[in-house]
Amino acid sequence: MCKATYPTPRIIMFDKIGSSELGYITIAENQRNMPFDFKRLYWTYFTPQDVVRGGHAHKDLQQVIFAVSGIITFNTEDCQGNKETFILDHPAKGLYIPNLVWRDIHFSHTAVLLCLASEYYVEEEYIRNYREFKNYSYEV
Ligand code: TYD
Repeated sequence: MCKATYPTPRIIMFDKIGSSELGYITIAENQRNMPFDFKRLYWTYFTPQDVVRGGHAHKDLQQVIFAVSGIITFNTEDCQGNKETFILDHPAKGLYIPNLVWRDIHFSHTAVLLCLASEYYVEEEYIRNYREFKNYSYEV
């Protein structure tokens, strides 16, 4: 199992500027309010409510994920075996996911997921098999 000091997933509340009359803006900036510098953004949308996405962990990637619309639920398991559920139900609420975290993701109707990722896309750094994730977690 990985060391107890290994980073774990956590919610980061980003500031929001504005008012209910005018609407809001939320900002993510490298070196200011992000736990890492991001190199890549991606977003997912039109995910049917009965579809479970995720089903993987990353060897090297860190992410901050927002539900910019709708509600997105993450079931996570870190490399220590701790399981948690995080509900992204506000556009200013980010979920920090360090590397070596298995996740399943559920979407409400119309949910849009925005991810800020620390690295470019590399398929080889994905762990898409749960057993492999558990074995890998024991080795780090
Ligand atoms: P994946 O990360 O498995 O999606 P999810 O966690 O939402 O289920 O990615 C889905 C597909 O998209 C997979 O074939 C890899 C591809 N993909 C890229 O080509 N580049 C990217 O930056 C991302 C995030 C995915």
